[in-house]
Amino acid sequence: MKEKLQQIQTSVEELLKQISDISALENIRVQYLGKKGELTSVLRGMGSLSAEERPQIGALANKVREFLEKSIEEKKISLEKAARANNLKAETIDVTMPGKISPNGKLHPLTQVMNEVKDIFIGMGFSIAQGPDVEYDYYNFEALNIPKHHPARDTQDTFYVNDNIVLRTQTSPVQVRVMEKQKPPIRIISPGRVFRSDAVDATHSPVFHQIEGLVVDKGVTMSDLKGTLETFLKALYGKDARVRLRPHHFPFTEPSAEVDVSCFVCGGEGCRVCKNEGWIEILGAGMVHPKVLANCGIDPEIYSGFAFGLGLERITMGRYDIDDLRLFYENDLRFLQQF
Ligand code: PHE
Repeated sequence: MKEKLQQIQTSVEELLKQISDISALENIRVQYLGKKGELTSVLRGMGSLSAEERPQIGALANKVREFLEKSIEEKKISLEKAARANNLKAETIDVTMPGKISPNGKLHPLTQVMNEVKDIFIGMGFSIAQGPDVEYDYYNFEALNIPKHHPARDTQDTFYVNDNIVLRTQTSPVQVRVMEKQKPPIRIISPGRVFRSDAVDATHSPVFHQIEGLVVDKGVTMSDLKGTLETFLKALYGKDARVRLRPHHFPFTEPSAEVDVSCFVCGGEGCRVCKNEGWIEILGAGMVHPKVLANCGIDPEIYSGFAFGLGLERITMGRYDIDDLRLFYENDLRFLQQF
């Protein structure tokens, strides 16, 4: 029995040297120390020993068991350590390798300037209203004091869907839609696409963008219009920007004005961008015509208002010194990536 015990110890020693993975180690443990393991069955046979032999063999058996347990545990620790080291090695990242660059998209320059304009007006307490691109003749013209055969229709190069429906030529119809629904005080801007059947060139496109503004309340005057536009244009072009109103005519405002801003390139000295004028025209504006208020069910004796419309392409071109409108719509990445 003594020999058997020593044999168990040597063969476990041998086996432990050979193995290199945890599951083999577990097999060895079961094979020797398990309920039906070899050491266990030797211990079970102790009953048949004589009274002198028993303590001797028992002490030896205990020593062998301790030895097995200890060396299996040590092997386990060293195998786990090796496994961890292997993993770390396999997962090593070479930080000197060149990275994969995933290209970032950007907002279109028109969208960027549109967002800026919206932010400025929202900061001034305006909210945003929207209307349809495909519009009734009534909203685009009639309600805005532009009856059939009015000469102003000729200047708008309208796309007609049928006799009553057009692609809106301006964002002004949104004024009418808002006033029909909402009673004063009204303070909105309405950005959107407009359509005119113009031939494409450096300054014309059949689709472009306007931003409409409308304020209606008791006691609104022309000086409120001027102050609002001045605040807006200084926010957009810097505090040195100056504003000039020139008399003009729109059927839906009275009086009407075209609004210029001092040239943001030369500051008013005269340069290529402002064609030596020192001023750049960017807006149409005026006091909402009493007939338009009345068309929308707002009493012009009680309320007054101002409206304005600005061209997004125009201000974006000025902003970035872009001399050809077509660049906005070609989606050439070499152009777009500059913004
Ligand atoms: N709708 C006009 C245009 O397209 C601009 C405008 C808007 C003028 C509001 C006055 C008031 O030219």
